[in-house]
Formats: sequence, C-alpha cells, structure tokens
Amino acid sequence: MKHLCFEGISTLSEHNWIMDRILVRPSGPLSGDVTIKGAKNSALKLMAACTLTEGTFRLNNVPDITDVRLMSELLGSLGMTVERISENTLEIVNPGNLTPEAPYELVEKMRASIVVLGPLLATYGKAKVALPGGDDFGPRPIDMHLRGLETLGAKFHSQHGYIEGNCEGLTGARIVLEFPSVGATENVMMAAVRAKGETTIENAAREPEIADLATFLNRMGGNVLGAGTSTIVIEGVDELVAVEHSVIPDRIEAATYLAATGIAGGEVNLIGARPDHMDMLCQKVGEMGMRISADPNGLWVMCNKDLQSVDLATLPYPGIATDYKPFLVSMLTVASGVGIVTENLFSGRFRYVDELIRMGADIRTEGHHAVIRGVNRLSGAPVRAHDIRAGAALVIAALKADGETEIRDPEHIDRGYEGLVENLSSLGADIQRLS
Ligand code: UD1
Repeated sequence: MKHLCFEGISTLSEHNWIMDRILVRPSGPLSGDVTIKGAKNSALKLMAACTLTEGTFRLNNVPDITDVRLMSELLGSLGMTVERISENTLEIVNPGNLTPEAPYELVEKMRASIVVLGPLLATYGKAKVALPGGDDFGPRPIDMHLRGLETLGAKFHSQHGYIEGNCEGLTGARIVLEFPSVGATENVMMAAVRAKGETTIENAAREPEIADLATFLNRMGGNVLGAGTSTIVIEGVDELVAVEHSVIPDRIEAATYLAATGIAGGEVNLIGARPDHMDMLCQKVGEMGMRISADPNGLWVMCNKDLQSVDLATLPYPGIATDYKPFLVSMLTVASGVGIVTENLFSGRFRYVDELIRMGADIRTEGHHAVIRGVNRLSGAPVRAHDIRAGAALVIAALKADGETEIRDPEHIDRGYEGLVENLSSLGADIQRLS
C-alpha cells in the first residue's frame, strides 16, 4: 500500500535548485502502444465532490501526478484522508464535519482548488476559499462561479485574499452562464445536488469531464440530467452516499501522443483513449495529413508523410480544446505552409511560443492570433516549460529539432502527466530526464 506523502510536496520554486530537466534528441518514427491514464481534469473534480458526504470513496484510474497530490493535500486540510491503495486507485475517507476552508498555500499552486467552494457551501452552509489570482494564461476570474452560487442563495464577500460564502440552505434556480465555463458549471452542479428543488444550468459547459462528474454525482444518489449538453437539470436530494467510480481517460494526454506521432512520424496505439471525446481534434489532424482510426482498444494514429498547415480556433467543447492548442502549434511549426491559430479562451495562452521561436519556429503573434509558417526542422535549444501543456508541447516539438533540446522546469509537466518521458521513450523517442 502506497501512502501519499504530503510532506513530499514542495513548492515549484523550491524545486528549481534541483534543476531537473528533460533532454530530447531528434527521433525517427515512433511505434508501439501507450496506455492513456485517467483524466486529470475529471479526477480533480471528482475528488472535490467527495466533500459532499461522509463515507469511504474509491476512485479508480486516477493518474499519479502533482495536481492529484495537491488536491489530496487540500482534502487533507479539510479533514479528509486520501490514500493511494493501488497504482491507479485512491481511497478517500470523508469523516464528515469538515473544516470548509481552502488555504492560499494550496489554492495558489492549483487553481482548480476553487471547485471545492460549491460543494462545501452546499454541505456546510459556509465556505472560505483563497482567491486563486492569475496565472501563465492571464487573468482567471471566478465571477461566473460566484454569480451561479448566488443565484442559488449564497452570499459572498471577499477579504484578506479570501472569498467567504454563507447560506442558509440553497434553493434550486435557473442559471444562465455568460460563457460555458467548465469550472463554473462544475461548482454550480455540485452545489445544486444538495439544494432544495430544481436547478437548471443554461449554456453549461459540455466537456466529457462534466458528464463524468454528473455520472459520479448520480451514482452517489444525485439526480443530474443533461450533462454533456448545454442544459443541465439538477434535482436536489437530501441524502448522498460514498461510492466507487472510474475516471474517464485523459483526452488531453491522448492528444499529446497523437501530436508527437504527427511530428516524429510513425504508428502508435493509444490504448484506452476515447475517440468520441476527440472528434474535432481527429478531424483537424486528419486535414493535416495524419491517419486516425478508432479501434476497440482506443485510437490508432499514424503519420507517414509531411504535415500540411491548417487554420484553427479554440472553442469550448466540442470545439478544439484550448488545452490541445500548444500541441497543434508544435505540429504547425514543422508543417508545410502557413497556419493561423486563434485562441478564444485564455488571453495569455501564446506566451510559450517565444520558447518555440528559440527553437527556430517561425511564429508571429498578434493579440489572440498566431501565424505559424512551417519550417523543415527545428533547432534544439534550452527552453523553459511555463505550464503543463506548453511544457509537453516543447517536448514533442523537440522530436523534430536538430541537436539537443533541454526542457527546464519539467515539474510543470509533472502536474499533469504520469510518465511522459517513459512513454515517449518506449515509443522509440530519444528522451531522458536528468536531475
Ligand atoms: C478548465 C480546465 C482547463 C481548460 C479550461 C477550458 C480544469 C482543472 N481546467 O479550466 O484545463 O483549459 O477548462 O476548457 O478542468 N471565466 C470567467 N469567469 C469565470 C470563469 C471563467 O471569465 O467565473 C473565463 C476564463 O477566464 C476563460 C473562460 O472563461 O477565459 C473559460 O474558463 P473555464 O472554462 O472556466 O476554465 P477552467 O474551468 O478554469
């Protein structure tokens, strides 16, 4: 039995002195199988939902990544215990009577912590969560989370860097989100499960992770209909129970290996991937010249010719996810022709392209657009991972960069990937992690 070691989590800056880095040299075609782990963005929300009732939960298919450890630490600070009882399974014990307060030290390391606000408020009538602040993508407001919960009857005030909410029971209501925010949909959904009466969320986010959360809540005894569509209807219930659940596979992790295959060439099986969660991406990389096919084990991907440039824009699901974009940009840097990429979700999500430019990419950014002129090959250089997906995008770009690419600050990548280096190495990439 492997116990989670909370003391072992140090801050990202504390890690810097260790100077971990990933070294990549150009690789020939990739070949083989990769097993896709559970979705980070689902696992974190399911863990937050475990605050809704006491009992012992089991979550299967939970990746062993830093963000899951941070969420475990957060649940621990509320009074719960989290233990990894096998390679992929977490046992989460909620003894009830939690302290509904999420401290800044944890929230600042992981913004997704904000999703404990709705369930804690609904369960305890009060909750105090540190305000998350901005990050490398630019500002990340939570106004829609708060407005949604206010519509259910909560009152908020902020002081000393914390948002504090109170309510005397929540009451179901009709909530129209200004934008299909993933986090706001999840926060409201978890709160509404414990509200009196019916809540309708209009313009809800439709991501597969939302549907996974609804399945989990329903398994607990909740009554959530329509998750995965723009209208979610939740009938509040009096009682919830602790249950066992398996997290859906990580479409963003799958997209990473898919894009790596596009860049390096080759033929790879993404075992466990859900092609039905990745329709637009598969269509787009098909236009770029890759061959993709769903098979009973997951997704088969192949690339045996030069990539062609395409234009693309990120959009809420089922559009092309903003989380895929860094990988697609890496593919476009070595494709024939010119591609225009438009980012519609996060204003700061082009910052990492400066690192690709250091590797010889021809990219010009203007506001939320990037114009990428493909080059034959990139050129290995020392670069820095600024966030999870940008870091992974640099790793896969390096597969087609002459010489050696050194990716610094790989602990950002560890937040969302279990075994990225090992997996790429097993597919034939020339990659290693150095401390
Ligand atoms: C989640 C994902 C993230 C993904 C994003 C969009 C997790 C842990 N993270 O983030 O990987 O990139 O969905 O698919 O699941 N916004 C507001 N006010 C709000 C809430 C959001 O203005 O109250 C804006 C955001 O600034 C952003 C857009 O809405 O521009 C989308 O954000 P949202 O869907 O909420 O993303 P997250 O849930 O934070």
